[in-house]
Amino acid sequence: MTELRQVSLGSSNTPISAIGFGAMHLAYPSDCTNAVAEQVLHGVVDLGVTLIDTADRYCRDEADAHSSERQIASALRSHSEDTSSVCVATKGGMLFPDGMWVRYGKPEHIRATIRESYVALGGQQPIALWQYHQLDLNYPLEETLGVVREAVDEGLIRHVGVSNFSVEQLVRARQIVDVVSVQNEYSLWWRGPERDGILEYCDREGLSFVAWRPLGGKHRASRIAQHESVSRLAAEKHASPCQLALAWLMAQSPRIVPLPGATNVAHVADAVKSVALTLDDRETRLLADAIAEEPPSLRLATS
Ligand SMILES: NC(=O)c1ccc[n+]([C@@H]2O[C@H](COP(=O)([O-])OP(=O)(O)OC[C@H]3O[C@@H](n4cnc5c(N)ncnc54)[C@H](OP(=O)(O)O)[C@@H]3O)[C@@H](O)[C@H]2O)c1
Repeated sequence: MTELRQVSLGSSNTPISAIGFGAMHLAYPSDCTNAVAEQVLHGVVDLGVTLIDTADRYCRDEADAHSSERQIASALRSHSEDTSSVCVATKGGMLFPDGMWVRYGKPEHIRATIRESYVALGGQQPIALWQYHQLDLNYPLEETLGVVREAVDEGLIRHVGVSNFSVEQLVRARQIVDVVSVQNEYSLWWRGPERDGILEYCDREGLSFVAWRPLGGKHRASRIAQHESVSRLAAEKHASPCQLALAWLMAQSPRIVPLPGATNVAHVADAVKSVALTLDDRETRLLADAIAEEPPSLRLATS
C-alpha cells in the first residue's frame, strides 16, 4: 500500500489519510456491480486512502439498506493485505423509500440502525466513525444523540460526527456527545462553509471538516477543464484540473479532508495526487475567481 499523508480525526489519536473516499456511487445510483465496486475499493486502499465514507442508506431502496456498508466490509476482508488501519465512516438518520431521501431521527430508529451498521461492517470492532446524517427537527437533538452516546458507551461506536449541521446545531450536539468531525458540502462551486462560520469553528475547536461533493459532482468534475485559466494553471503545475480543485480545498485549512467519490479507480489515483500539490495565494485566488458559485446540492435545516 502507498503511504499517504496522515492527519488526525478531530483531536483524537485516530489517524486518517489527508484525503478520503466517498463510496456512495458504488452502491447508488449506479450500474456498478459488486465486482467492480470491490476492484475500486481495493484500489482505494492500495493508494493509501484510510478514510472511506458511506451511510446506512447508500443503497437502492429501503429493502437494500446497509448494502454499501456490507460492500465495503466485504472488500476490506477480501484484500490481500491488512486493512485494519482503514477507518470506515458511516451515517444514519435518513430513510430512502422509493429513491427519495427522508430525514428520520427517531431515537428507536437510530438505536436499531446503529446496531445494523455495526453488524454490516463486520460486527467485530466498534464503528470507527458514526455520523448523524442530517438533523431531523421532528425529534429533539438531545434524544437522538443521547441514543448515539449510549452506543458509544456500549462499545458499538468509536467516534461520532455530524453532517449538514450549522454552528449552532454543532454547539448543541457537543453538549450531548463528543463530536470529532463535521461533514458538510464544500467545493469551489459551493463555499457556504466560509460564510456560515462552520469552517472557522472547526479550526478553532480542532474538529475535522470532511468536505462532501468536493468536485461539485459528476457534471462539474467533467467540465472543470473547460475553464481556460484552470486548464492553463493545470498545465503549469503538471496537475489535473480535479487535483487543483481538491488541493484548493486543502489549502483553505489543515482541518479539511476532501471526500471525492469515484467509480473509476484511475480517478482515485488522480485525486490522491492532490495531497502533494501545494498552491500559493495567487493560484488559490485564480481558482476561486475562475469558478462561479452555484446553489448548494442540499440546504441545511435552519433551527
Ligand atoms: N453527507 C452528505 O449529505 C453527503 C451528500 C452527498 C455526498 N456525500 C459524500 O460525498 C462523496 C462524494 O460526492 P459525489 O461523488 O457526489 O461528488 P464528487 O466527489 O464531487 O464527484 C464525483 C464525480 O467526480 C468524478 N471524479 C472523481 N475523481 C475524478 C478525477 N480525478 N478526475 C475526473 N473525474 C473525477 C467521478 O467520476 P467516476 O464516477 O466516473 O469515477 C464522479 O462522477 C459521496 O460518495 C459521499 O460519501 C455526502
